[in-house]
Amino acid sequence: MIEFKNCLIDRNVFPSFLLSTDLTCHVDNDDVIVDFLKVRKKDKGKKKTNVIGWHSDIKLHDPEYPHLCNVMDLAGTFTNQFLDNEETNLHVTDMWCWLMENGVGAYNVVHNHGKMDLIGVYYIEVPPKAEGMTLLRTDAFTHTRLCGSNKSPDFAIDFIVDAVVGRLYIMPGHLYHYVRPFDDKGFRRSLVFNIGVGKK
Ligand SMILES: [Fe+2]
Repeated sequence: MIEFKNCLIDRNVFPSFLLSTDLTCHVDNDDVIVDFLKVRKKDKGKKKTNVIGWHSDIKLHDPEYPHLCNVMDLAGTFTNQFLDNEETNLHVTDMWCWLMENGVGAYNVVHNHGKMDLIGVYYIEVPPKAEGMTLLRTDAFTHTRLCGSNKSPDFAIDFIVDAVVGRLYIMPGHLYHYVRPFDDKGFRRSLVFNIGVGKK
């Protein structure tokens, strides 16, 4: 048998990424739920990617919802720190947000957020049997037999984000994703972000 000296994978190229941070030391999630329920009570919502579930429609960056605003501000700061750490020439220039609520059987169809630079989600409530969003690989690697041929996340066709209450996730906006339904009591509630960046 021939033994090769070199590592077979020299370097993984063109990776994507998922950032996350625990906001529970900066945010009282019970306060965030209070703001969520205020919006839920007054906003009929609109149909977007949600099937059965509720997608908020009203503007959330409002002093009436200080705890939601706090999470948004933290998401902006966290994203800027990432952009600085990676030595990009970018910073956050736009952010808009909405709330999502999925009860039993509700889900979100496969979609991406168009030309959005970054997207994010903060989990406010998660029933025990509910999982987080599923990110889908969509490049041409999925046409090859290599895709899904082992357990490496670099070869995987999808990745399920851990839905942890109080945790913020940020990722590139081009990633396709969907949310599976769950069979349990309660609601999966989240604050979702679109984040635009520009040159400093
Ligand atoms: Fe989405």
